[in-house]
Amino acid sequence: MAENGTADTRTHASLAEIVGAISFALDLTEGQPAGHALRCTWIGMHVGRELGLDDATLTDLYYAVLLKDAGCSSNAARLWELYGADERLVKQDFKTVDTQNFLQLARFVFRHAGQTEDLRSKLRRVLYLGTSGENLATELVQTRCERGANIARKLGFNHAVAAGIHSLDEHWNGKGRPEGLKGEEIPLFSRIALLAQVVDVFFQTGSRHAALAEIKRRRGTWFDPTLVPIVERLGKEPEFWEGLRAEGLESRVSALEPAPFHTEVDEDRLDSIAEVFATIVDIKSPYTHDHSRRVSLYADGVAEELGLSAERRRWLRRGALLHDVGKLGVSNHILDKPGRLDEDEWKAVRVHASLTGEVLARVFHFQDIATTAAAHHERLDGTGYPLGLREPEISLETRIITIADIFDAITAARPYRGPIPVPEALEIMQKEVGTAIDARCMQALRTRVPSWAMD
Ligand SMILES: [Fe+2]
Ligand SMILES: [Fe+2]
Repeated sequence: MAENGTADTRTHASLAEIVGAISFALDLTEGQPAGHALRCTWIGMHVGRELGLDDATLTDLYYAVLLKDAGCSSNAARLWELYGADERLVKQDFKTVDTQNFLQLARFVFRHAGQTEDLRSKLRRVLYLGTSGENLATELVQTRCERGANIARKLGFNHAVAAGIHSLDEHWNGKGRPEGLKGEEIPLFSRIALLAQVVDVFFQTGSRHAALAEIKRRRGTWFDPTLVPIVERLGKEPEFWEGLRAEGLESRVSALEPAPFHTEVDEDRLDSIAEVFATIVDIKSPYTHDHSRRVSLYADGVAEELGLSAERRRWLRRGALLHDVGKLGVSNHILDKPGRLDEDEWKAVRVHASLTGEVLARVFHFQDIATTAAAHHERLDGTGYPLGLREPEISLETRIITIADIFDAITAARPYRGPIPVPEALEIMQKEVGTAIDARCMQALRTRVPSWAMD
């Protein structure tokens, strides 16, 4: 139902709504309080309006800021490897550091590197990060900005949006990354997005005064000196800060998208958006590389064997592509752990299923998919998660995603073991029929397996 109580009859999703949901998932990966990218868009669009940008340019600015962190999942595994700590906390704190201030940077490295390790390992990490820091930082930023720009292009955005995302970490004085662009060589969208990012981070962790003081301090080093006074002016209006509050944030921000450029998404674009979402999730960890795509392929094969209609299969393929979106909220410290997980780590892993539901439910058009996908770890015997649903409450579509997910989990390499051959995998799975796996789905999988060329 719509907010006014009438039935919502929308048949298409709005692009702003979908990208808004993607940005919510990206905030999870960045370790930022939910709504960070939306709040940055609020700030950035106000700056853009003050600059008198036309509607077409404002629309590009809207998506460049909203998707500024699109590449963030690509360096998560590397960050965990380098710091040996929860990379979401590393990322979260890093956003408050002035990287041009040596003392701040050194303190940051010392605080985060090898947090849970003995002193010797910690010092080894600090030394490595200290001596190779410049190259490592460029590598991390480069991966992130190239992936981010690519994702924007795959979502169908133009060069201006992609370039804005690509140069997010460039600084006005030329000491940023990855190319060391200087002054107006840096795309305007990147200059606005970086400024908005620092304003939001310092506002969230401190106050409006802390945010304004920080951008004043970095004026001319990090930030375009002409943009800082604009935010200072905007910051005098209480409505500017009230706009950042959580309640109603999404609708307030989407109202800033210039109406003439509002886009409805058709079925083909929904398919490609689901694929992009899947890519963002899969590149987070070397062990989930292509997992969502394979789950979608296997689910589709099982669904075809079971006689589902073409329309339903298309819907299910999207659900399978999106089933692990919630993993963006789980640290690589856990996802890539080479040994057994302890109880707390398992708890953190389990959260991914309900997070999948939360992210997808933000898109009106994805609400059915949200329920189906969020249930992919439920078991017929009621011992699954997140809700502990029992057989009659688990839809056929969920059972199909579940079997595809289990099949891929067993036949793909894990951090603690190599891949298991298909015949052995099927044997292991057969033992779970009736408890975790639906018997019809198992039969369909067996029939279908020979058609997938697998090593
Ligand atoms: Fe999962
Ligand atoms: Fe999965």
